[in-house]
Amino acid sequence: MNGFLQKEAEDVIWRCFLSHVSLSKADVQFTHTHTHTQAGGPSGQSLEDRCNRILRNMEASLTARDRVGIQDFVLLDAYTSETAFLDNLRKRFHENLIYTYIGTLLVSVNPYKELDIYSKKQMDTYMGVNFFELPPHIYALADNVFRTMLSEFNNHFILISGESGAGKTEASKKILQFYAVSCPSTRVLNNVRDRLLLSNPVLEAFGNAKTLKNDNSSRFGKYMDIQFDQQGGAVGGHILSYLLEKSRVVHQNHGERNFHIFYQLVEGGEDDLLLWLGLQRNCQQYSYLVQGDCAKVSSINDRSDWKTVRKALSVIDFSEADVEHLFGIIASVLHLGNIRFDTDALGYATLSNNQEMHWVSKLLGIPAQVLQHGLTHRKIEAKTEEVFSPFSVDHAVYARDALAKAIYGRTFTWLVNKINESLVNKDSSRKTVIGLLDIYGFEVLNVNSFEQFCINYCNEKLQQLFIELTLKSEQEEYHLEGIEWEPVPYFNNKIICDLVEEKYRGIISILDEECLRPGEATDLTFLEKMEETMGGHPHFVTHKLADQKTRKTMDRGDFRLLHYAGEVTYCVVGFLDKNNDLLYRNGKEVMRRSKNAIITHCFPTTEPDSKRRPETVVTQFKSSLVGLTEILMSKEPWYVRCIKPNEAKQPGRFDDVLVRHQVKYLGLMEHLRVRRAGFAYRRKYEIFLQRYKALCPDTWPNWRGSAAEGVQRLIKHLGYKSDEYKMGRTKIFIRHPKTLFATEDAFQECKHRLATRIQAKYKGYRVKGDFQKQKEAATRIETCWRGLMARKEREKRAWAAKVIKKFIKGFMTRHQPIGADNSEYLMYVRQNYLTRLKDNLPKTVLHRDAWLTPPPIMHEVSQILKQVYIRHLVRKYVGGISPQRKAQLMLKLQASVIFKGKKESYPFSVSRPFLDTRIGTDNISIKVLQMIRQEQLKTSVPVVKYDRNGFRPRLRQLIFTMEAAYLVEEAKIKQRIEFISLKGVSVSDLSDNFLIFHVSCEDKKKGDLVLQCDHLFEALTKLSVIVSNQNFIRVVQGSVRFDIQPGREGFVDFKSGQESMVYRAKNGHLMVESTRNKTRM
Ligand SMILES: Nc1ncnc2c1ncn2[C@@H]1O[C@H](COP(=O)(O)OP(=O)(O)OP(=O)(O)O)[C@@H](O)[C@H]1O
Ligand SMILES: [Mg+2]
Repeated sequence: MNGFLQKEAEDVIWRCFLSHVSLSKADVQFTHTHTHTQAGGPSGQSLEDRCNRILRNMEASLTARDRVGIQDFVLLDAYTSETAFLDNLRKRFHENLIYTYIGTLLVSVNPYKELDIYSKKQMDTYMGVNFFELPPHIYALADNVFRTMLSEFNNHFILISGESGAGKTEASKKILQFYAVSCPSTRVLNNVRDRLLLSNPVLEAFGNAKTLKNDNSSRFGKYMDIQFDQQGGAVGGHILSYLLEKSRVVHQNHGERNFHIFYQLVEGGEDDLLLWLGLQRNCQQYSYLVQGDCAKVSSINDRSDWKTVRKALSVIDFSEADVEHLFGIIASVLHLGNIRFDTDALGYATLSNNQEMHWVSKLLGIPAQVLQHGLTHRKIEAKTEEVFSPFSVDHAVYARDALAKAIYGRTFTWLVNKINESLVNKDSSRKTVIGLLDIYGFEVLNVNSFEQFCINYCNEKLQQLFIELTLKSEQEEYHLEGIEWEPVPYFNNKIICDLVEEKYRGIISILDEECLRPGEATDLTFLEKMEETMGGHPHFVTHKLADQKTRKTMDRGDFRLLHYAGEVTYCVVGFLDKNNDLLYRNGKEVMRRSKNAIITHCFPTTEPDSKRRPETVVTQFKSSLVGLTEILMSKEPWYVRCIKPNEAKQPGRFDDVLVRHQVKYLGLMEHLRVRRAGFAYRRKYEIFLQRYKALCPDTWPNWRGSAAEGVQRLIKHLGYKSDEYKMGRTKIFIRHPKTLFATEDAFQECKHRLATRIQAKYKGYRVKGDFQKQKEAATRIETCWRGLMARKEREKRAWAAKVIKKFIKGFMTRHQPIGADNSEYLMYVRQNYLTRLKDNLPKTVLHRDAWLTPPPIMHEVSQILKQVYIRHLVRKYVGGISPQRKAQLMLKLQASVIFKGKKESYPFSVSRPFLDTRIGTDNISIKVLQMIRQEQLKTSVPVVKYDRNGFRPRLRQLIFTMEAAYLVEEAKIKQRIEFISLKGVSVSDLSDNFLIFHVSCEDKKKGDLVLQCDHLFEALTKLSVIVSNQNFIRVVQGSVRFDIQPGREGFVDFKSGQESMVYRAKNGHLMVESTRNKTRM
């Protein structure tokens, strides 16, 4: 869930950035123009990084363009001003921004320092990105070429030109490296890729040299085809070389070196190799290596370069034999250079030292005499025979050098072919091609000779090609887009090309004619011929033809051509010789005797014999240029123009004069003019709309209609005037840069606002995402919890149902014998009963009847338990009774025996405990106490005595001793009744408290006593205990007869009434009325 949300969030942010704002990579462009930091693609970096980067870029972008000039010269307002052009270039150069576009042409200024812009990360950044979306870069160009090739399935070439040291070779290497990384890779493809990459160090070793201008100057023109299959895999390659500077083999100017390979071999070659080649590890020993007097250069490491070359040779299929032969040739050139000639007696050349000859002979496999003869004689063919004419020393030296040059030059050609063999793609399916042309740019030296003439001619041809291709494509584009073609004001250099190459009338024709014609042709006759033929041509001038002012700037032997890029003055000296490049005929024959396989290959016996003069150098060059032009014409052109910022090879120095010169000679202003002739800016509707749609409410955030309509709506909103733009079929064309800049500025302002909105939206999205996550988590927990609870509940219910079922079944079978069905139920019943019983046991013996009714099966048990328990209670009760209490209870028992069921008020007395006495001894008169002292006082109780005659009530104390009962009125004993004379005591069966003491006659001095006592039961019970006779208490009904005096009887009548009353009835009886107790007896 987490990952999903994260992914979703990423999608949203990218959708926002890419579809709504469309500022992703385009914005990166602005920051990059300033910082050149890395911008990762959508892959590989975290979302946060990417957002941060984009935001950073957005902030930096507004001012970035102002600070670092314009990335595309086409957008330069003052596009005709060289100064403005230079200013922009300088401004960017000082910010380490070495690349600037002129449309799709890339201008590159050599930084002369390592910049951190060629990393793998940078390559990734530029892969698959639209050309104008990132800051100008060689990778952008390479990528665009590659993708155009793949999508349109056609061929392309990248022309890299510039002065020596401007960075052409480096640029071509960068392109190659980019393809090596960006193209699909398989084991086979990687093999081709490695060969393509490694062909470079080999070709550089044999074709590059240190010159005053460049420590690694390519001394040949190079065109390399890379062949791609339909998936874009590099499947093969082919290399063409042009005009190797062979003269360097035998001569180097001061401060320059021969080709690197010589130094690499001498410095880096293994000991046994050098021994086998007869070489010493010392460049100073070889005259071909020391003419420039700088065999050692700090910037070049010959030893490590040697290792690189050796390794590269093995990768590109060079066998050990090939390598042996190749270095045999290199060594033999060094040995040749050391051959010296002396003059013999006849003034002819002889060899002064046989040692070197021996090595050459050994290494090339040519008999020494043949070689020696070949170096000192020239073969002249007469009509019928061949004769050998000996050389003078000068001729011999010339012939030797010619041989050395020829050997090296042809070996170089062999080498290129050999590399081509290893790059060849045997698969015949259709391939597309990207060609890389690393060729000398326009060259203007202090003294310009034949080489400069060839080079500049080559550049004229390439300019022609450019004009044709560019204008053609421009015209085609207008046509395709349905826009009216407007003529482009530009200079067409065809006139100069014609001046150089026109048949019979061109400079090349005249030069060849002079070289080939019999008679004494010299450089000067060549000059004269030119003056004759092309005098008056607007682009040609000589000292003789020039006006006064111009003449001052020229020597007599000079001619001047007004090239498209500017004037160049050539010195004719050496033109004929260099054009002839003669290798004496027997020199070739000698070489054909060689056993060295490469030499045999280079000097084939099938080569047309020298009956016909071989083609001159310039004609060969012209033909190769025609071939090259044909190759290029069939392809789509792309241009890289390299500029050297200073002569000192120093970083950070921008020499205005030098750069201005190159801008001119590279034809950059001309190129810009052609580009700007029509519309400064054009872009596909989709891309334009995507970038600027935020500027119009109708098109933001999404335009539903066609892109063209969207653009129309947008520019209407922006207020474009009708002459400022044209609408093509698929593109919008904007005439002036300022229109675009105004739009761009508006966009820069607007996108900050957009960024804030996107940020807010994104933040909201994040928070929402978090919330949803939490909500989902909560729901999930809740669900789990509820599930758990429901499961528990279900289990509980199932269990309960089972229990209930069992219970019911148990209940239904409770009367059956114990079995599976009812055992638990009965157990439960038992337990339940016992538990309940435990809680409901009678608290006292008195409550023993409150025994819990048992279920039937517990009946017996209950009985036993009850018995046990009651016994337990009784025991407990009994155990808890004190002797006094026991005595009391015994009394109560006695009272019960006497009164229970007989007297109505008895039940009410049961709960009232008896006391020892009701009158404390304190309240009995001491006198009385003294009188009865001997009789042991038992108890006393207050009573009311009714007079026998009037029945008046009198308060008295009734005291029992062991022997008698005393009726006491304070300190007076009113009456003493001995127990032995007490006949009985009568009480009624009602609830009154009257008692009548019946006294025996002999003691009847005073008669019977009628008393009322509140503690009747207590007093009588105690009395019965004292007299040990309970029968003398009689409970009577109705009335009691008593003796008032002996012989005089009285009656006390008892009856129940409404209220308690005692009175003397009319019949003279004492009437005692008592209330009836409704309670049980
Ligand atoms: N992009 C670059 N970054 C850093 N250094 C560079 C770059 N381009 C060129 N250089 C430096 O400039 C030197 C000359 O470059 P390079 O050999 O490519 O010039 P060139 O145009 O091929 O010259 P020539 O016509 O003599 O062959 C390189 O050896 C290197 O030191
Ligand atoms: Mg080069």
